Amino acid sequence: MDNHWEVLISAEEIRERIGELGRELAEQYSGLNPVVIPLLRGGFMFAADLVRAMDTDLQVEFLGASSYGEQTESSGEVRLTLDTALPLAGRHILLVEDIVDTGLTLAYIQQLINSRKPASLHTVVLLDKRARRKVEAKIDRVVFDIPDRFVFGFGLDSPGGFGRNLPDVVAMKDNLDQE
Ligand code: IMP
Repeated sequence: MDNHWEVLISAEEIRERIGELGRELAEQYSGLNPVVIPLLRGGFMFAADLVRAMDTDLQVEFLGASSYGEQTESSGEVRLTLDTALPLAGRHILLVEDIVDTGLTLAYIQQLINSRKPASLHTVVLLDKRARRKVEAKIDRVVFDIPDRFVFGFGLDSPGGFGRNLPDVVAMKDNLDQE
């Protein structure tokens, strides 16, 4: 499938921007001992780089959600696939998400976290596909705005479940018929 995609955001660009964000968040959360929650599965690589750029005391917990099945369109039905082990009440939560598309996944997960009465909840998102939003979710920081194209790499998978290990964010070419 090598010819079917092109680099949209390079590993180098991603590394730089996450480094900057990590330093800012470390200052913002200094003394607050936040719980950083990568949303699995796609958020694992972003979160791994982000926490390493955050020079402050923090804990890491995981939440898993799934809404796609094997498709490139969200099924609209969000399922929780993994829950946190630590209580979140009274804690400062930083939710780390790979991509927001319709917003359904994020809205569902934020509602779940808020029902546990954290001291605060902030959300950082690597990729924002704004054009496709169906429900508004509160997003505090977006690293990259992207067009309405199916992307994978840097933690995100392709419809077949592959591609998470690519170092860049790549986009499916939509002009394959003409090649
Ligand atoms: P939403 O609920 O429609 O906002 O979709 C959010 C979830 O769908 C993300 O956490 C991703 O796992 C997945 N997703 C959305 N768009 C893409 C994409 O372009 N490539 C890969 N996964 C995507």
